[in-house]
Order: sequence, then structure tokens, then C-alpha cells
Amino acid sequence: MALLEVSNLEAFYGKARALHGVSMDVEPGTIVGIIGPNGAGKSTLLDSIMGMTTTTGTVRFDGADISSRTPAQNVKAGIGYAPERGNLFPFMGVKENLLVGAYTSRDKVDENLRLVFDLFPVLEQRQAQETGTQSGGERQMVSLGRALMTSPALLLVDEPTIGLSPKVCLDIAAALRRLNEQTGLTIIITEQNVNFTMSLAQHIYVLETGEIRLSGTAEELKGEDHIKEAYFGS
Ligand SMILES: Nc1ncnc2c1ncn2[C@@H]1O[C@H](COP(=O)(O)OP(=O)(O)OP(=O)(O)O)[C@@H](O)[C@H]1O
Ligand SMILES: [Mg+2]
Repeated sequence: MALLEVSNLEAFYGKARALHGVSMDVEPGTIVGIIGPNGAGKSTLLDSIMGMTTTTGTVRFDGADISSRTPAQNVKAGIGYAPERGNLFPFMGVKENLLVGAYTSRDKVDENLRLVFDLFPVLEQRQAQETGTQSGGERQMVSLGRALMTSPALLLVDEPTIGLSPKVCLDIAAALRRLNEQTGLTIIITEQNVNFTMSLAQHIYVLETGEIRLSGTAEELKGEDHIKEAYFGS
């Protein structure tokens, strides 16, 4: 059984429809990538899974229909969210920002802090640094770490490489791969960075103007003319 099943999902901002009948399955223990250009609906899709938008269609998580749940209920049920550009508290320290994520999982604070610090040792060295003074890469690590503090079974990550150097992109990719391999965590990543996504995800959906245009493995998609033209410029 898929851990997450999205069926015919539509999302609305007022009268404007940002998702048009999106369906996708996420198998447990996998990394799934969602690639698409600016405005494709990537953030809207993750927001909609979390219950942050107005939607029709169904979202099932771990067998249960979660379509009308609140974001807080979804976090408690095991969906962690690292949103685009982090939304950290800039005048609070690294550890304090991480602890904000621990609110629904207070019995596992020490265990989860250990996991985050093992994954991103720089955060352990700089626990007291205000996140507003950190580099973009370090802030991205705090954002991922904060989502991990919720003890998720499914982690949603929105554009983790945006604005980061190639070296830091590789570090983030390595951390996500390690997390998936060592803990079996299921991860959905949205990206415009196609190479990053293809190096990580077992299955990829291509989202364009609110619709799934193609899906398949990285190998399958690399052979598609549309992908070559629109994403690799050849
Ligand atoms: N709060 C909002 N109110 C109205 N329209 C919105 C809102 N958020 C997003 N949209 C619209 O929905 C569409 C999808 O936006 P979304 O942010 O999901 O795209 P995206 O794929 O995440 O893009 P990006 O790569 O730039 O982050 C766009 O046309 C956008 O203008
Ligand atoms: Mg976005």
C-alpha cells in the first residue's frame, strides 16, 4: 500500500485553480521528486497535502483520508514539512528553532536532536547562533532539522537547493539520501534543480501549470524529448 495517495487533487486560491486533478502515489521508504518551473504548483501541492489550502479530491496517508485535516493534525499524524525558504525565526538560535518543531513530539526531543546534529554537525557547533546570521545553506539545514523534530514518517521538502552553491547542494543531497537509507524515511522533494532530483529520487513527477505532465524513473525521464528540451536545453 502506498504511504501517500493523492487522487484528482485540485487546489484553489479564491476562484483561481492552481492544481488541476493531480494524482500520485508515494511508496513507503522511497524518495519521490516533483520537478517543475516557477509557478507550476509545487509549493501548492505540498501545502495542499498539509491541509493549508482549499482543495477538492482526496489525500490518503497511511490508509486514512486526511483531506479535511488541519496542518497541526497532519504534523501530529507524522507528516513533516520543510517549506520553501524555511520560515525560521531569525532572532532565535539554531537550537531554539529546532525545538519549535518538537512541540508535537516532546517525548523524542533528545533522540531527534541527536539525529539532526549527526546529519548536520555544523548545527551542533552553532546551536546558539541566531538563524538570521547564518548562511543560506545552514538555514536550509535548520529548516530540514526542524521538520525532523516532528518525528515524521513522511517528510515534505520544498525546493531545498534554492539559492545554494553546488557544494552545499551536494551536502543536502547526501544528508537526505542518508536519512532515507538509514531510517527508511519516505521523502517528497520539489525542485527546479533537475539534476539534484534525478540523483536522489526513485520516482519523479513532472508538474507543469498545475498538472502532472510526465512521471517515471530518472532514467525513463532522461529519454523524454520534452525533458531534454525544457529542462536540459538540448
Ligand atoms: N497565496 C496565493 N494566492 C493566490 N495565488 C497563489 C498563491 N500562492 C500561489 N499562487 C499561484 O498558484 C500558482 C502556483 O504557485 P506555486 O507557488 O505553488 O508554484 P511553485 O511551483 O511552487 O513555484 P516556485 O518554483 O516559484 O516556488 C501560481 O500561479 C501562483 O501565482
Ligand atoms: Mg514554490
